[in-house]
Amino acid sequence: MWRPPGAQKHPLPDTAWPTAAEAAASRLFSPLSQGALSLSQRTWVPAMVPWRATEDGEVTDRVVAWYRRFAEGQPGAVVVEATGIRDVPSGPLLRIGDDRYISGLRRIVDAVHEASGGQTRVLIQLIDFLRVRRRPSAATFFTRFLTVTQAHRVALAEALGDPAWRDAPEAAVRTRLVTAGDDLLGEVLSARERQDLQFGYRESINDTHLSHIAALPEVLPALFAKAAQRARAAGFDGVELHYAHAYTMAGFLSRRNQRTDGYGGDLAGRVRLPLEVFAAVRRAVGADYLVGARSLGDEVIEGGSRLDDAVHYAQAFAAAGLDFLSVSKGGKFEDAKRPAVGQAVYPYTGQSGYECMPTVYSDAAGPFGRNVPLAAAIRAAVRAAGHTTPIVAAGGIHLFAQAEGILRAGHADVVALARQALADPDWFRKVRGGHGAEVRRCLYTNYCEALDQRHREVTCQRWDREALDAPGVSRSQDGRRRLVAPPWQPPAPEGTP
Ligand SMILES: Cc1cc2nc3c(=O)[nH]c(=O)nc-3n(C[C@H](O)[C@H](O)[C@H](O)COP(=O)(O)O)c2cc1C
Ligand code: SF4
Repeated sequence: MWRPPGAQKHPLPDTAWPTAAEAAASRLFSPLSQGALSLSQRTWVPAMVPWRATEDGEVTDRVVAWYRRFAEGQPGAVVVEATGIRDVPSGPLLRIGDDRYISGLRRIVDAVHEASGGQTRVLIQLIDFLRVRRRPSAATFFTRFLTVTQAHRVALAEALGDPAWRDAPEAAVRTRLVTAGDDLLGEVLSARERQDLQFGYRESINDTHLSHIAALPEVLPALFAKAAQRARAAGFDGVELHYAHAYTMAGFLSRRNQRTDGYGGDLAGRVRLPLEVFAAVRRAVGADYLVGARSLGDEVIEGGSRLDDAVHYAQAFAAAGLDFLSVSKGGKFEDAKRPAVGQAVYPYTGQSGYECMPTVYSDAAGPFGRNVPLAAAIRAAVRAAGHTTPIVAAGGIHLFAQAEGILRAGHADVVALARQALADPDWFRKVRGGHGAEVRRCLYTNYCEALDQRHREVTCQRWDREALDAPGVSRSQDGRRRLVAPPWQPPAPEGTP
């Protein structure tokens, strides 16, 4: 896990929790109604992939139980994990790329509405992602994947000082490269070939020599639109378009987008496809349906988009009529660590990943509310442009006073708690009822994220070994962890027998 240079461990801050009366008078627990977004309170559980779907992307009982457990805490909204808009094999990630997924997804919607007593809105995050392959061994890469060219032969001849390599048979070139050291490979392979060898083959939106990448602007609006229609048919209260982190749409918004087909280059080119996707979704689901997006306030990679780009995009999204904007940060492939052979690169292992899910091993700024300044700047710019689009802030938000302060300062309209809600899905009910002292605090050390990285069922170290043998507890595949937080009941009022 990446850490800022000179990182210090930040203690969890002490806090005073509100009484029920103070909570009732708070902005945090007041309803929000702004355009198509109406919430019973200004709290939000953002998307978190729990790795509980089937290999075919279908909803399982475990997926339903996961969302039911969040809904029992009665937050204002829960966003269902990144769900693939294409019907292609993608491991145990949820899919919405065909009508056959609708009935399973409806089970999540029903569970959330029922368990929250109608208090929690349920949205689904719609994602498109490009192909990422596992890192190959050198032998596999050079014998199977590398396309040997004359440029390789010439480079070998020069690097080894032996002109015979200019006419070497392909098999000899491959065999020589399998045993080559980093220096020789640095001279013989292109930057892209080195990346494919060291990180695994990964497509980018800049690979316009591939016809399916060139065609993304033609195909994505319809794919997102159909997925959103299915979400509506399944009963979701809204959709969140995933324009953040390491995935296709964020690639278009990135300053690293070098496309020359009108969908890259300057700000207008980069935001064009996200706007066209939104327009297609809007046409498909109608004006009254909740459609928002999650995007990055800062990519945190060299040459990537920064806050000024994000502000421009947010103003364009607001002008186009997006119903909310959820602001995230980082989470990119470009600065991810080199994976072990046989593993796939994971976009949360570098600095940008740290900034997405900051830990207590932090620099002076610390992890708590670390990304709020981005949301605040975006909200101010959106308001200055005359739009009332609600802005959702996330990143190290865990305390009542902190969340209330963010709202009262006008830094955001809604606060999102991801890991704190995972550590304690009852945070919202406990704090609202004056039982804040019972909150199971998140430690912000990213045990959950390490499970996500290994594609194992995500659980929390604060509860996953608790009461394992209690009736009705379902366990992870290794049998060692419970899959949802233990139940909580408010203490009986004094004097109750
Ligand atoms: C296990 C895990 C899975 C996540 N999956 C998603 C996801 O599917 N989509 C997304 O936009 N963010 C995802 N995130 C990021 C969170 O939504 C959130 O932005 C991040 O954890 C920072 O918020 P926090 O400090 O409240 O945890 C995930 C985070 C975790 C810990
Ligand atoms: S595993 Fe750790 S970081 Fe993740 S939710 Fe639990 S306490 Fe927080």
